[in-house]
Amino acid sequence: MTNNTADDRKRAAALKALDFIHDGMIVGLGTGSTAAHFVKALGAKVKAGLRITGVATSAAAETLAIEAGIPLAELDAVPHVDITIDGADEADRSFRLIKGGGAAHLREKIVANTSRRMIAIMDDTKLVESLGRFPLPLEILPFAARTTMRHAADAAAAAGCAGNFVRLRGGDAHPAISDNGNLIADLDCGTIPDPEGLATALSAIPGLVEHGLFIGLCHGLIVGRPEGAEVIEPPAHGAE
Ligand code: 5RP
Repeated sequence: MTNNTADDRKRAAALKALDFIHDGMIVGLGTGSTAAHFVKALGAKVKAGLRITGVATSAAAETLAIEAGIPLAELDAVPHVDITIDGADEADRSFRLIKGGGAAHLREKIVANTSRRMIAIMDDTKLVESLGRFPLPLEILPFAARTTMRHAADAAAAAGCAGNFVRLRGGDAHPAISDNGNLIADLDCGTIPDPEGLATALSAIPGLVEHGLFIGLCHGLIVGRPEGAEVIEPPAHGAE
């Protein structure tokens, strides 16, 4: 079967991720359309007898997981998360991600940071040579939001990004609000030559609650392609 549409390729990646889920695991449940395919497929496995506990990365993921019949726990109530399966807006082959297209990157990052393993699932258009084509999501406090956005633009310029235009998602009339009650802005970087440097600079801005660069948090990619799903993992120790 050929995965003709982007959604087919998202589904192929999501279904492949089921191979990484085993009985007894605590599983972080990502947000977005690709993660939704995974949550629904995982729900079917649970109905068939798989015993896992889910930890949702957003209100939307929680609703979907409940509908799918997945037992849930709060992150604070579990000792660790075994694996998180989440979508991404962009990924490179160093397992660096841009996330937050669905405005959920703050909670997604908290869950990923507590996970022993995180696998990002995506269609093949999202695997890039260099991060930055997708505008970088920023969650910012409503207080002095314009000032925070200006500092973020300055940080992008200082980090050597091709662009540094920041806009409020949804505009002034209908600003996007995160599950945490904060604003979402998008930083058009064009290309990000130094993702680690930009991440460090953005993290140092007061009022910028979280940016969508995931550095050192993701351990593998599953990329849906027309002919199937490709698993990309770092070489095993000793095999480099
Ligand atoms: C939400 C995210 C999503 O995982 C990301 O936007 C990908 O979404 P989709 O699978 O719908 O393309 O980071 O904050």
